Amino acid sequence: MARTRVYVPRDTAAVSVGADDVALEIARVAKRGGQFIELVRNGSWGASWLEPLVEVDVDGRRIAYGNVDAADVDSLFAKGFLDGGKHPKRLGPTDEIPYLARQERWTFFRCGLINPLSLDEFRERKGFAALEKALADGPQATLDAVKASGLRGRGGAGFPTGIKWQTVAGAPGNQKYIAVNADEGDSGTFADRLLMEGDPFCLIEGMLVAGFTVGASKGYIYLRSEYPLAKTILERALDAARDRGWLGTNIQDSGFDFDIELHMGAGSYVCGEETAMLESLEGRQGLVRSKPPLPAISGLFNSPTVVNNVVTIASVPNIILQGGDRYASFGVDRSKGTLAFQLAGNVKRGGLVEKAFGLTLRELIEDFGGGTASGRSIKAVQVGGPLGAYLPADQLDIPLDYEAFGEAGALIGHGGVVVFDDTVNMAEQARFAMEFCAIESCGKCTPCRIGSTRGVEVIDRMINGENREDNYDLLVELCDTMEDASLCAMGGMTPYPVRSVLKYFAEDFATRERAEA
Ligand SMILES: Cc1cc2nc3c(=O)[nH]c(=O)nc-3n(C[C@H](O)[C@H](O)[C@H](O)COP(=O)(O)O)c2cc1C
Ligand code: SF4
Repeated sequence: MARTRVYVPRDTAAVSVGADDVALEIARVAKRGGQFIELVRNGSWGASWLEPLVEVDVDGRRIAYGNVDAADVDSLFAKGFLDGGKHPKRLGPTDEIPYLARQERWTFFRCGLINPLSLDEFRERKGFAALEKALADGPQATLDAVKASGLRGRGGAGFPTGIKWQTVAGAPGNQKYIAVNADEGDSGTFADRLLMEGDPFCLIEGMLVAGFTVGASKGYIYLRSEYPLAKTILERALDAARDRGWLGTNIQDSGFDFDIELHMGAGSYVCGEETAMLESLEGRQGLVRSKPPLPAISGLFNSPTVVNNVVTIASVPNIILQGGDRYASFGVDRSKGTLAFQLAGNVKRGGLVEKAFGLTLRELIEDFGGGTASGRSIKAVQVGGPLGAYLPADQLDIPLDYEAFGEAGALIGHGGVVVFDDTVNMAEQARFAMEFCAIESCGKCTPCRIGSTRGVEVIDRMINGENREDNYDLLVELCDTMEDASLCAMGGMTPYPVRSVLKYFAEDFATRERAEA
């Protein structure tokens, strides 16, 4: 007898709002009623605001039910949800949910669709076809495709991936490495996790393609310790790939050897900085290294190393399959392709939105995000993690591209967008930026280690109304010093959010004084 496929995401966000209980209850009620189902624990589509998003396969069409609670399951069965029956939680066909239908899914096209741990389903959806193409076309053609795509690093700095790979390919050395940065420490970001939990073989395939292209035989995934579910899923995916001959020696009889090791971080933000990550991978404290040498020349164990973010690497297989030019046809100017924006904070419809570069912040926050969750007006939006500038509500028409953001003194970074309503006190946010830096600084250079602590003190004096003008000047000078003299972007970019508060929200420094008056 044919079993009806029912999908319940096994993804950290979905599980945090009860997806495991929902899955158990669906299995229990189906068994009790003698109904045959195949329960699939898929990845998330990224519409976090609809989780747990349960789907039923009805004649080959996926019908979605949103925000399902275990207590809803009896009534779902009673209303015939296995046949797509009507129910207050019914959303209709998944591919018609506007939040999903309006996206341009390039990197995340399999997330939500497949069972993340089924190599067969991965293969049915073009999985490993890019590796096969790369192996057939050779390293140079593969590198040319990555260069033609215009893909830039999605971890924060936006460095052209093709140039990085070319440097590693051309660097002397018998041993080269691919080191994937899965530390994902930026506030409001979860794209790496969603990809690793929803389509882990895609990351593995991207690493294989990178290794083949630059001549590396070993890869590492540096995963943040706060992602235990991603760890489990990656471990299983790596084992499955190894069992089926997609990792190890002589992969699929191609003569190409490559294996991957999963390495867990220990909860340090600065270990996401690429050289601190390499130190940590080598078993040392995560202190930032001076550059040069670049990791591409002398990285892990002094060998040429590609350091790339998860989303960067996972974007590659589709680039190889569809062509670099096709990818470059998305986006604007030097911001080619798509970015997985992550909507978080005080927003009604939080989640992942993969779109071509060039849409505006307003389109992202209002059309996709539905405005603030509180229903109040937006006061500020921080893009690009804790080192990103705060933009005021009247700057939401800036197009999301690297250059436009750079001109506005802001950054896109890893694509995290955190929304604040008008109840936020921005002076406190400026203080938080300095405090965060003081806590997370690796301590190697003085402007960051000492500057951030002094920054907290200066801001405290301003908030308390002590010599506000003098302290304002001092803070600006401190920001200049941190920006100019820090060894890495941790200290060098902490001034971004602070300066943006001074520029757009200076009146918030007076709020406490007014309240006390
Ligand atoms: C303090 C700090 C933290 C960072 N954290 C991350 C991170 O969590 N994930 C990431 O991919 N890149 C992070 N980066 C950027 C990396 O240093 C590096 O640019 C990136 O991993 C390169 O990969 P990409 O070219 O694919 O972006 C961080 C940088 C700094 C300065
Ligand atoms: S800027 Fe901060 S995190 Fe970076 S090297 Fe200096 S002390 Fe370490």
